[in-house]
Amino acid sequence: MTETISGCPGMKGIILAGGGGTRLRPLTGTLSKQLLPVYNKPMIYYPLSVLMLGGINEILIISTPDHILEQFSGCWRRVRLGLDITYAESPSPRGIAQALTIGSDHIGNSPVALILGDNIFHGPGFSSVLQGSIRHLDGCVLFGYPVSDPGRYGVGEIDRDGLLLSLEEKPVRPRSNLAVTGLYLYDNDVVDIAKNIRPSARGELEITDVNKVYLEQRRARLIELGHGFAWLDMGTHDSLLQASQYVQLLEQRQGVRIACVEEIALRMGFINADELYLLGCELGNSGYGSYLMEVASHAGAA
Ligand code: DAU
Repeated sequence: MTETISGCPGMKGIILAGGGGTRLRPLTGTLSKQLLPVYNKPMIYYPLSVLMLGGINEILIISTPDHILEQFSGCWRRVRLGLDITYAESPSPRGIAQALTIGSDHIGNSPVALILGDNIFHGPGFSSVLQGSIRHLDGCVLFGYPVSDPGRYGVGEIDRDGLLLSLEEKPVRPRSNLAVTGLYLYDNDVVDIAKNIRPSARGELEITDVNKVYLEQRRARLIELGHGFAWLDMGTHDSLLQASQYVQLLEQRQGVRIACVEEIALRMGFINADELYLLGCELGNSGYGSYLMEVASHAGAA
């Protein structure tokens, strides 16, 4: 299936799943960081589910060479989600914006959603916010999250309509408490913008510099993800554990699944109920498998 149900038809997705995962050693000795377990599923399911909820089904995963790309492709050979997933190598991590130059062929003439492979977004109404932002995209849309330690992130300041007024990367004196999260929506101009930014003093193509070009054009918006919303990144052992605990708590308490990509594939029309049922059967007697079969049966699987 190539058409999207909602969101923006033709919007491409990129998951940046590179980096050395050095802060998570020794966990990342043999396994890619983005395939580490977050409670009951691999980390990459979480950013993947975000793109899928936006209605995006053409997705490029960028990671480092060596065994990692093989691990990713092995993962999606088994889990057939009706997506067009391709892979590209980032020879060495040279900044988040490098994903936009590596991914320029994949993007082609389309708009693009870039998401960091270690970010979780979860909260009420998120899919409609996302789909609405994608449908009305003009320039770039960022998502902001109030944090107590903004100096660790990109920090944005907005006016009452959500227009971005200032943006700074890891400022010593932050002008707001709004961290810029790792989900970025861009129109197609981003390909040229990313090609033309200069590497920072650290030799990296900074995503903040890309966003600043849109800011100067007054075409950058930042949507604040408010109270009751969860944005988590998983760069350290503690934050990885906290993410697992968050998912465990909500899944057990509410009986729902967070970032269940198979269920989302059904909901977005990428697969049908019979295909979902089969995916559930293949997971044998795990609770996850039984859940998929139950959802598929409710949806009319034969
Ligand atoms: O998490 C949101 C923050 O992400 C934003 O607020 C910042 O503006 C943005 O610069 C970025 O800051 P971080 O310090 O969190 O970026 P970090 O270098 O940790 O990279 C985030 C993820 O992206 C990480 O899982 C590794 C991956 N990555 C990063 C770089 C620089 C790559 O795959 N390749 C890269 O070259």
